[in-house]
Amino acid sequence: MTHPENSIPWWQRATIYQIYPRSFKDTNGDGIGDLNGILEKLDYLEELGIQAIWLSPFYPSPMADFGYDVSDYCDVDPLFGDLATFDALLDAAHLRSIKVIIDWVPNHTSDQHPWFIEARSGRDNPKRDWYIWRDPKPDGSEPNNWGSLFGGPAWTLDRLTGQYYLHQFVKEQPELNWRNPGLRAAMLDTLRFWLKRGVDGFRMDVVGLIIKDKQLRDNPPDPGASADLPANDLFGRQLHVYNDDQDEVHAVIREIRKVLDEFDDRCGIGELFGELPRWVRYYGERGDELQLPFNFRLIYKPWQAGAIRRSVDKMEAALPDFAWPNYVLGNHDQPRLASRLGGQPQARLAAMLLLTLRGTPTLYYGDELGLENGIIPPEKIQDPVGKNLGPARTRDVERTPMQWSSEPYAGFSSLEPWLPVSADYATRNVASQAKDTKSILNLYRQLLHLRRETPALYRGRYETLDAGASDCFIFLREFEGSGCIILLNFSAEAHQVTLPKGMRGKILLSTYLDRPGERIRKETFNGLTLRAHEGLILETELQQ
Ligand code: GLC
Ligand code: CA
Repeated sequence: MTHPENSIPWWQRATIYQIYPRSFKDTNGDGIGDLNGILEKLDYLEELGIQAIWLSPFYPSPMADFGYDVSDYCDVDPLFGDLATFDALLDAAHLRSIKVIIDWVPNHTSDQHPWFIEARSGRDNPKRDWYIWRDPKPDGSEPNNWGSLFGGPAWTLDRLTGQYYLHQFVKEQPELNWRNPGLRAAMLDTLRFWLKRGVDGFRMDVVGLIIKDKQLRDNPPDPGASADLPANDLFGRQLHVYNDDQDEVHAVIREIRKVLDEFDDRCGIGELFGELPRWVRYYGERGDELQLPFNFRLIYKPWQAGAIRRSVDKMEAALPDFAWPNYVLGNHDQPRLASRLGGQPQARLAAMLLLTLRGTPTLYYGDELGLENGIIPPEKIQDPVGKNLGPARTRDVERTPMQWSSEPYAGFSSLEPWLPVSADYATRNVASQAKDTKSILNLYRQLLHLRRETPALYRGRYETLDAGASDCFIFLREFEGSGCIILLNFSAEAHQVTLPKGMRGKILLSTYLDRPGERIRKETFNGLTLRAHEGLILETELQQ
């Protein structure tokens, strides 16, 4: 039986490309990327083969956390452009069949948001309860022991009113009280504002945190916490029993989903962590919560065939029938993929893994060039995490300017960018990799186009095959008798792999881009050699 193409929702078909707007392309020479820059680069994105972009926040913001401190949910910061530019970007993306997902930050606002300015003006202010306030303990200390993810306690005393307010990030990010119906309605309206403009979905920032324990009880210490944590990392020393993943959050997420469903075809993505059995609940018991709770699991696994395979198999086994998987390997909070995995061949293998698994892949800008962690001199650190918890933790390293060309500042800007351009830009850039037929950029392009055109890859079932070599992860993707076999060698040594009897086919792609069309006859299936860090995609016919 064939299914009409349009029966697959776009967010299952698409590969999502995350753009960190500050660092993508500057068009007015202030050293900071802008919406117009994204607009200018849509041709590049279309050619790359992605089908959706997710924009990290571009809202008005004092930038204490580079836009994750929002002072107006319904506008564009002048640094990035204005609403008219946003609309133009949205239209231009849609013309190219590229969906647009925007970031939505429901857990906290900026301390400069008018709501917080009102709330902090007096205990009786009607907006007071839109945030989380508590009296000090009798000795004047914080209401409970919670720590901030960005260092220090999660509470700051407001002198004027003598109460503490909660913030699990920097103190300029006071947390909203989603138990208050007025706040809830106001936040849901911010979604409608963008849905009416035509955005296709939201990536919801730390959405698992928006409901806290009603009694705000102390978190227990984490007996497994590392001994080397910085002294002010209180958060890292606790188990997050009362500040995160409360059962009551699901009712709120169902309400959020209902707002998305007031419009056709919109998608909710959540930044969610935690153990698989609890994490999977964010799809909703009947698929009535988020279509894509981000799956970050592979980021935290060692880069070994067995560990990666087990993570994928567990995910496949844990998902109910209605739930669609997804995979993420990098973002603006994680060290660059190529640095984390230890080299370019590994980064190429990661590209093949991500773009052949069953489920929606999310790419991070620059990973298609194999960008590595930037080197940020201590005095140039911008990220509050780097400033508060030490340079080793700074997220600036994965936010360096996109490398477009070998021109000054990598063609990102005509003036010195907000973060230093990586030293390798003269050779590692879009212009030079576009010309090099074996570059990682061309690998990404070929993978993305192959995935788009191949039903087995974008919708087929997934089955692990026995590798006969523990360093290799081999799996099948199959749809209506057409299949792809993906063979990934995670080690620095060559390996011979064996495949099930009776399979034949040809190589569609090697991560080294040097053996297309190589036919694999029946006999050689039993002795196919994968070079160090090599990944292969084989096309195969299967007996029905
Ligand atoms: C999320 C974002 C991160 C931000 C934090 C606070 O984890 O991905 O960049 O700093 O939330 O909004
Ligand atoms: Ca700019």
